[in-house]
Amino acid sequence: MSYPSDSFDSQDSFPNLPLPTIIVEAIQRHLQLRRRDFLTDMSVEVSALQKARAEYRPKLPKALRADGMKIEFGAPTEPATHRDAIRQLFPKTYGQPVVKIAQGDGGLSAAPLKVGVVLSGGQAPGGHNVIAGLFDALKAASADSRLFGFLKGPGGVIKGKCKELTAEVIGPYRNTGGFDMIMSGRDKIEKPEDLAACKRNFEEMALDGLVVVGGDDSNTNAAVLAEYLRTEGSKTSIIGVPKTIDGDMKNELIEASFGFDTACKTYSEVIGNICRDATSAVKYWHFIRLMGRAASHVALECALQTHPNITLISEEVQARGTTLAEIVDSIVDIIMMRHEAGRNYGVLVVPEGLPEFINEIKVMIDDLSAILGKEEEYIDSLPDHSERVQYLTGKLSAQSGKVYNSLPPGIQEVLLRRDSHGNVPLSQVETERLLIDLVSDKVREMEAHNKKNYRFSPLSHFFGYEGRACAPSNFDADYCYSLGHAAAQLVRANLTGYTVNVQNLTKPSDEWIAGGVPVTMMLNMEVRKGRPTPVIRKALVELDGEPFKVFARGRDEWALNDAYLFPGPIQYFGPSEVCDAPTMTLALEEGVG
Ligand code: FBP
Repeated sequence: MSYPSDSFDSQDSFPNLPLPTIIVEAIQRHLQLRRRDFLTDMSVEVSALQKARAEYRPKLPKALRADGMKIEFGAPTEPATHRDAIRQLFPKTYGQPVVKIAQGDGGLSAAPLKVGVVLSGGQAPGGHNVIAGLFDALKAASADSRLFGFLKGPGGVIKGKCKELTAEVIGPYRNTGGFDMIMSGRDKIEKPEDLAACKRNFEEMALDGLVVVGGDDSNTNAAVLAEYLRTEGSKTSIIGVPKTIDGDMKNELIEASFGFDTACKTYSEVIGNICRDATSAVKYWHFIRLMGRAASHVALECALQTHPNITLISEEVQARGTTLAEIVDSIVDIIMMRHEAGRNYGVLVVPEGLPEFINEIKVMIDDLSAILGKEEEYIDSLPDHSERVQYLTGKLSAQSGKVYNSLPPGIQEVLLRRDSHGNVPLSQVETERLLIDLVSDKVREMEAHNKKNYRFSPLSHFFGYEGRACAPSNFDADYCYSLGHAAAQLVRANLTGYTVNVQNLTKPSDEWIAGGVPVTMMLNMEVRKGRPTPVIRKALVELDGEPFKVFARGRDEWALNDAYLFPGPIQYFGPSEVCDAPTMTLALEEGVG
């Protein structure tokens, strides 16, 4: 195997070679431009940090830098549950072994390959580095290989809309955030005509592989496409990459989804700033909702990084069967205790998924999903909100109807929407405002009863989108580049229906181990839009896991005292313990926190 430049060949010289040399050499080869031109000829003005960040050379595990690589195959695999149903749905790809990429000579294809890549779902920092890693590894194996980016997500794959990603196109996006190189979308490749369209497009392009960068739903969808293509005798292999800021696509073999690290560090910076503001102004209670879908990983990680006074963990609420009224009572208790201590301020963090974990709301959402599964079109056709509420109230059980009616109209409307994968668009449910309303009502009641002023002055915040497109931390920059490299090797091995994995993430990147996990092994059956559907099992916060236990040990003290931590902004340059630390969640899960 040969890399595009001679100096790139040597493992020893690899870590010392500055990134711009690689970019420039690649650009020189493809475009005959010089380095100075690259940094000054970009059509858009770039910031000083962008220029400096373009110099960053992502680190790779040893095996992915080797001159020769091979695939090592493990034993056949099975999903943890619903085996028969999943075997029936995926007869061609069921039971494949876990694979590992190792140094050696394994006869991976050195022929020029044509590979596509698509970014699916919500943005996550590091997506551009996946593409850069994929491109560099394909070119290293054969300089004539070509990479194509499908535009605006899976919809672009169905429509066959793509552009070639050359060194010139990719260069300015290295180590940058966002998905703007090829954009993203939430279409689902599901209908028979969509699957057939993909196959046709791949045949026309003579595509050897497609790399799908996405979360649990998109990787599931990738497995459906892989199965279809194998059944139809297509040569195109489908490889997934675990992406999502939510941190919920993980298991024993996938230690973390990319983007979680950067997003949590970004939110933690801002939460820390708010804690500082709270102790300075000493008059506001900040109610902060954090993105992250159903699971509370983002909220838990940010709590570990900043120690807010209250952090609600949805999984605990569910396990204890806590009602909405009980949640409100527990918040009010802490507000009162802090008031008694002269602290009429505080910071509360709530995960966006909370409503789905409060039993009475969860039952109501499931009832609504079942009705929407059958009657969505009719309900949409009703002229206004009040008619929809009236119709649904008649259809829901008495208890669910009561809960639905008790919610503000804005939330009622959002709960009627589902994305293409059947998820409630939780980022639009203003739970922080709902909690403020309910807590304020309770405090007012107590003020009237006790003839006292508790000086409760709440402010609401929602942090989500601002953490999804920022420049990846060193961790995510390295991790994503490795994921992209590894995806290229799985395509070279003509594997299909796999998600790339990189393990040992708390160790130096040299010791990371890359490979692939068969998607069928991660599936279970869940009811989506009223129908049993195969999906990758979402990882929720484990209450007996170390991250939650550390949080639970600290939270009483954090509630009453101002034990805030101020992590500050992500650092790209400086001491390794500041710049390269993984999330506390990962460190604690891997036993090094
Ligand atoms: P993915 O699951 O696609 O990674 O998206 C994550 C996420 O950021 C969630 O945290 C959030 O609820 C959702 O996307 C928001 O969706 P949208 O971008 O469509 O508003």
